[in-house]
Amino acid sequence: MEQYIIKGGSPLVGEVEIGGAKNAALAILAAAIMTDDTVLIDNLPDVNDINVMLEAISGIGATVQRIDRHTVKINGTGIHDLNIEYDYIKKIRASYYLLGALLGKYKRSEVALPGGCNIGSRPIDQHLKGFRALGAEVDIDHGKIVAEAEHLLGTHLYFDVVTVGATINVMMAAAMADGTTIMENVAKEPHVVDVANFLNSMGANIRGAGTDVIKIKGVKSLHKTEYSIIPDQIEAGTFMFAAAATQGDVTVLNVIPKHLEATISKLVDIGCEVEEFDDAVRVVAKRRLKNTQVKTLPYPGYPTDMQPQIGVALALSRGTSTITESIFENRFKYLDELARMGAVIKVEGSSATIEGVERLSGARVSAPDLRAGAALCIAGLAADGITIVDDIVYIQRGYERFEEKLRDIGGLIERVSSEKDIQKFRLKVS
Ligand code: EPZ
Repeated sequence: MEQYIIKGGSPLVGEVEIGGAKNAALAILAAAIMTDDTVLIDNLPDVNDINVMLEAISGIGATVQRIDRHTVKINGTGIHDLNIEYDYIKKIRASYYLLGALLGKYKRSEVALPGGCNIGSRPIDQHLKGFRALGAEVDIDHGKIVAEAEHLLGTHLYFDVVTVGATINVMMAAAMADGTTIMENVAKEPHVVDVANFLNSMGANIRGAGTDVIKIKGVKSLHKTEYSIIPDQIEAGTFMFAAAATQGDVTVLNVIPKHLEATISKLVDIGCEVEEFDDAVRVVAKRRLKNTQVKTLPYPGYPTDMQPQIGVALALSRGTSTITESIFENRFKYLDELARMGAVIKVEGSSATIEGVERLSGARVSAPDLRAGAALCIAGLAADGITIVDDIVYIQRGYERFEEKLRDIGGLIERVSSEKDIQKFRLKVS
C-alpha cells in the first residue's frame, strides 16, 4: 500500500501552478454527453476521480478521446445504455451527475444509489425533489434510482438545503426541459457557475448562476463547444495553508483570487501577509500564527473543503481557536490523527476547540478522506521529525502531482511503498 513519508521543519517557499477544478470538471464531463456533437474540454485535472468519470461515460457508450493529460474530446452520440452501475458510483459519488444529464437528454436514466462516505451520510433527497418537480417519475428500486419522464416541464423549485450537487444535477435536467425553470435557494459555488457557463456554451439558456436564483429556459438540443475548466480554488487554498503552517512564502499561480476571498480573509486573520495579483496569490507567514474562529458555510462563506487545512494551521497557532463544521456531520475525524501528532483538541458535536501548541511531532497517521489527507501532509511538513501518511489513495483522487508540487517548493515528501523506501528516505534526510 503506498504511503507518503515526510520530514517536517522546512518552510515551503516558491511558486505552485494550480490545475483545473475537480468538482467543476466532474459535472462538466457528465454534461458533455448531453449533445450528439463533439465537445472538447481542457484544463482537466489529471486525478483518479476524473479518470473514473471518463470510464463511466465511455462505459455507457459515449466516445472519449484523450488528447493529452488535461484535454479530452467527448461525443455522446453512441450512448446505448442509460444505466450507471454501482461500481462507478461506489468509486465516485459524482457519477450521479449522469442522472441529470441523461434525464435531460433522453428523459430516462438509471443510476445506482450513492452511499454515504467518510464525511457524512450525504443524502440526495433534493436531487430527487428537483427531478420530480420537473415532472419525472423517480423511483428507488433495489438500490437504483430510476428516473423517467414523457416530457420534462419547467417548474418553480425552492431547495430545502443549499446543495451544490442538487443545484447542478437539476440544472442539467432543466436545461433540456420544455419551458422555464426557476430554482431558488441554490448553491453559488464557482463550480456551479462553471457548469452553467459550460451548458450555455452548448446553447443552453441559464441565467443567474452564482446568485440565489437560477432561471433556465429549456432548449430542444445542445451543440458542440470547446471549454476550459476554471482553476481549483480548493487545491489553491490547500497550498496557501501549507505556506501558513510551515511559516513559508508561497505563490499560487493560475487562480481566480475572487474565488479565494473567504480563504484569504482567514489567512489574514491568523497573521499571514497575502498579496493578490490578477491570476496569482502570494501567502507569507513570517511568525507564529494567531488563533481565530471559523464556521464553514456555503459559498461565499468559508468552504467546508478547506476546514481540515485551517484546522492544522490553528493547531500550531497561539491561543484558543474554534471551528464549526456546519455542512457535513462527520468531518472532524482528522483531528484524532492530529492529536496523535501533539495537537490539543476537543470536539463537541459540530464544533472543535483547538488549543494551539508550539510544535507538532511527526507520527504515523491515516488519511480519512481527500481534504483531511492533504491537511495531514501539511501537518507533517510543519512537524518535527518524520510523518508517514497511510491511505494516500484518497489524496490522489483530487490532487494532481501532490507530492511533486510540494517538493518543488521545498517540501521533503516522497511516495513510498516499502520499508526499504522508508529507510532510504530516512537516510537521505538525516
Ligand atoms: C460537493 O459535494 C463537493 N463534491 C464536496 O467536495 C463539497 O464538500 C460539497 O459540495 C460542499 O461544497 C463535488 O462537487 C464532487 P452538497 P455535494 O450537496 O454536492 C446536504 C471534495 O472534497 N444535502 O452541497 O455532495 C448534505 O448532506 C468534496 O472535493 C442534502 O441534505 O455537497 C450536506 O450536508 C467533499 N440533500 C449539504 O447538503 C441533498 O439532496 C451540502 O451537500 C444533497 C445534499
